[in-house]
Amino acid sequence: MTEIRAERPEESAAIRTVHQQAFYPSPNEAHLVELLRRAGRMAFSLVAVSDGLIVGHVAFSPVTIVPAPAMPRRALALGPIGVLPAYQRRGIGSRLIREGLETCRESGYGFVVLLGDPRYYRRFGFVPASTYRLSNEYGAGDAFMALELQPGALHGVEGLVRYAPEFAQAGC
Ligand SMILES: CC(C)(COP(=O)(O)OP(=O)(O)OC[C@H]1O[C@@H](n2cnc3c(N)ncnc32)[C@H](O)[C@@H]1OP(=O)(O)O)[C@@H](O)C(=O)NCCC(=O)NCCS
Repeated sequence: MTEIRAERPEESAAIRTVHQQAFYPSPNEAHLVELLRRAGRMAFSLVAVSDGLIVGHVAFSPVTIVPAPAMPRRALALGPIGVLPAYQRRGIGSRLIREGLETCRESGYGFVVLLGDPRYYRRFGFVPASTYRLSNEYGAGDAFMALELQPGALHGVEGLVRYAPEFAQAGC
């Protein structure tokens, strides 16, 4: 049985371990989560708990669009997401994503972006962000993806999506 729920204060070390192992040997993603937490910029932070152990984690942080659209949009970036290697390919990452997106939708966010492998993220409804005339700071092509959480949320939106400054600070 795996439970998906919000991060609790005493779980930061376990979450660090998840990302250190999932992204091994890169320490950047674990560092990024800590910077986002410290800056109060994790809009949502969900963990997957299996047999009492934190086995997965996903963060959502706010992004801005440059130039700012006439009608402000509330948008988030998904990531990093990591699952302990021994627990991968059991659907835990998919549940973190689906339940995370539902939390964002229920809270009124308009859309979510991410950088990732389109073969994985297509299944959740993500499409290349270029479909919506959104560009990114990383020079990524189809790996930069977007998903509308509310129908029409990306209608008429065009511009550069800026991630939280902690991404650059962490080298992500
Ligand atoms: C990506 C990740 C979170 C997925 O978690 P998971 O619990 O293994 O995912 P699920 O069990 O829900 O889905 C597994 C499926 O995703 C695919 N998949 C996993 N990572 C993938 C990737 N980087 N690219 C393409 N496909 C991927 C698997 O091949 C598998 O496909 P299948 O269902 O067709 O067999 C996990 O593999 C992970 O922590 N990877 C290392 C860190 C990472 O790369 N994070 C994403 C970038 S931010």
